[in-house]
Amino acid sequence: MLQLNENYMKLKQSYLFSEIAHRVNDYSAANPDKKVIRLGIGDVTRPLPKKTIEALHQAVTHMAYSDSFKGYGPEQGYDFARESVVNYYKSNGVTIDLKDVFISDGAKSDTGNITDLFGPDNIVLIPDPVYPVYMDTNTMNGRNIVFMDANKENGFTPMPYDGLKADIIYICSPNNPTGAAYTRDQLKEWVDFALKNKALILFDAAYECFIEDKIYPHSIYEIEGARKCAIEFCSLSKTAGFTGTRCGYTIVPTDLTVTTSDGTDMSMNAMWTRRQTTKFNGVPYIIQYAAAATLSPEGIEQCRENIAYYKSNARIIADCFKKKGITYFGGINSPYIWFECPDGMESWDFFDYLLNNAQVVGTPGAGFGKNGNNFFRLTGFGDKDATIEAVERIDKLLK
Ligand code: MLT
Repeated sequence: MLQLNENYMKLKQSYLFSEIAHRVNDYSAANPDKKVIRLGIGDVTRPLPKKTIEALHQAVTHMAYSDSFKGYGPEQGYDFARESVVNYYKSNGVTIDLKDVFISDGAKSDTGNITDLFGPDNIVLIPDPVYPVYMDTNTMNGRNIVFMDANKENGFTPMPYDGLKADIIYICSPNNPTGAAYTRDQLKEWVDFALKNKALILFDAAYECFIEDKIYPHSIYEIEGARKCAIEFCSLSKTAGFTGTRCGYTIVPTDLTVTTSDGTDMSMNAMWTRRQTTKFNGVPYIIQYAAAATLSPEGIEQCRENIAYYKSNARIIADCFKKKGITYFGGINSPYIWFECPDGMESWDFFDYLLNNAQVVGTPGAGFGKNGNNFFRLTGFGDKDATIEAVERIDKLLK
């Protein structure tokens, strides 16, 4: 008889953003005359940079001629795309090798897929609150998850402590959803902890392009020793507006080795290569070509204009909360504003209240973990006029 992976029974019925989409669709169906403003999921609204669009057109043309047509590509990514990632890191002062780079269809897939490489008995340390993919994918695999509290008291950047036990440590900096980022000194403590305890850090840098304060590293590889204990995930989704275009990259340093139970030194880079070549046929040539153009200095310059636009939206939201005396976090080195629900409301109740009374969609903090129960997230990724209108509605509602 067929046996299912019953770990799925331990998951919430729907993924966070699917649940939100259901509720909003139900509301819109029942209230077709109401204009809903969506500041929930962190989905971009600005068109792709000019450099990206030009490259997409060129790559389509390549596919039209037999001498430039491409079929299957290397599963790890074309060298030109990997090279563009190497150069992007170099522009942030970080040296990585072409062989460390794996081009992917985004950080969401890879942060989930990487769990293929780990045995079932690891202790997985996950911040609470955080991006729900880490918890859901490890729950699917039946792993032992330990949460570390991120809260106002520790500035939403929990640190290692005496007696802490962990084999796999997820760090998302700047953090989704709180917007908090780890400083270099703080990350050094995590790297030292991982090296000392033979643990692995899975570092999600999807929001690194929003960092403006120099005390926060863009990459964990800015920290000495990280190449021996960390894998980094990043994506062009937020950097360049690729949420629908899909391209990301994962860095698995060639010097990251782990000793197995029989004493063999296994290269994680070789394992990931084996996994990707078996289960993945690579990102489409057209997309990789556009991604490489996007990561060029000119492309990045154009991305920065969009990032500045989103940041000014975040500022508009933050200014409203400041004026109203609502405690909020993030919005400076992050596109997200994380704030306390008024009058101690629970976050899903506040979600309904905001949707029903202001037709504004946000993300309930509870969807990111129990420490988010009384918090709520709004995103700066919306259209500017819609953001201004949403803020006016919120201003009126929360007298
Ligand atoms: C979010 O809203 O948290 C993100 O857009 C989700 C994602 O990047 O998958």
